[in-house]
Parts: sequence; structure tokens; C-alpha cells
Amino acid sequence: MSQDESRSAVIGTLSVPPDRSAPEDQPRWRRDFPIDWPEDDYVARRDLVKFIVLTSGAFVVGQVWIALKGLFGQRTTAFEPLPIASIEEVEIGQAKTFEYPEGSTPRLLVRTGDKSFVAYDQQCTHLQCPVVPAVAEGKLHCPCHNGWFDLATGRPLAGPPRRALPRVSLQVVDETVYATGVEASGS
Ligand code: FES
Repeated sequence: MSQDESRSAVIGTLSVPPDRSAPEDQPRWRRDFPIDWPEDDYVARRDLVKFIVLTSGAFVVGQVWIALKGLFGQRTTAFEPLPIASIEEVEIGQAKTFEYPEGSTPRLLVRTGDKSFVAYDQQCTHLQCPVVPAVAEGKLHCPCHNGWFDLATGRPLAGPPRRALPRVSLQVVDETVYATGVEASGS
């Protein structure tokens, strides 16, 4: 078998030329460097499948991480308990601002019942306008862009805010309300 014939035989077994014409009609360069097109297609498909599997895996891992962060990501930082109001100082449905710990951004203490209070960062998590309580509706309102938060949890309900208001944990001892810690902003 001549050298040309053996090259043609190689092209015939390994390569299906793109124009599908006979091996001996192929240009010299293609006969010298036959490409195994079926194998090439197979590798391209395998790479595509690998890419899809990897990106899907990364997406799933990201979603799981976000879910776990939502479940366990809320952390409370404890500070020295600080008396922030006496009970009779704040009427039911009324609010009082305070700093906790001292020098912090303003916080808002809201009396929601006889001996029940909630307290949050007063700054809206959108663009930091001060929120105001709407106790009858069970909400906090940010008038800047009409953002709404749940009074019981601090979670955003409507409008641009996407993150909850950082919550101040409270304790009522005798007739005094104490701040005891600050929870990081959740989602
Ligand atoms: S600053 Fe509160 S909604 Fe924009």
C-alpha cells in the first residue's frame, strides 16, 4: 500500500470530511491531518454536558446556602443590658427612640400591648429614612418610598426594602424595659 493510500485509509476510518466527498478528493492538508469528526462531536457534547452539570451544581449549592443563611443566619449580639424606658413612659401604640448600645444609630421602641414591646433599628433598610410605627395596622412604615415592615418581626412586607430591620431584643423587669442585644438584619 502506497503512502497516499494509507493516508486515505486513515481518513476513511477516522474522519468523515465535512463535504463528505471521497478521501482521495480531499485537499492534501486534510489528508495529512485527518480529524476524527465523530470523536470531535462526542467531546464537544461531553464538554457541554459537563458545563451544564457544573453550573447546575453551583446554582443548587448557592440556593442551599441562601436558604441555610435565612434559617440560621440571624445572629444576636449581646451587649450589657440597658434600661431604655419605664412602662408608663410609653403609651400603648406609641413609640420612643433610643440608642443601644450608646452611640448607635437610632432605635425605635414600640409598645404594642399592656406589657409587650418591640424594638428595631429606626433606619429603613432601603435608603435609611426613619421608619414610623403604624401600630393599628401591625406595621412599620417608611414614608420615603412607601416601604412597609411587619411590626411583629421587622420583615419587609411591601415597597423597596428587601432586608428586615435589625431587631433589638428586650426584657421587661418590674416596670422597666431593658435592651439586651441586637439581631443582625435577616432577609
Ligand atoms: S428609604 Fe425606606 S423605602 Fe426607601
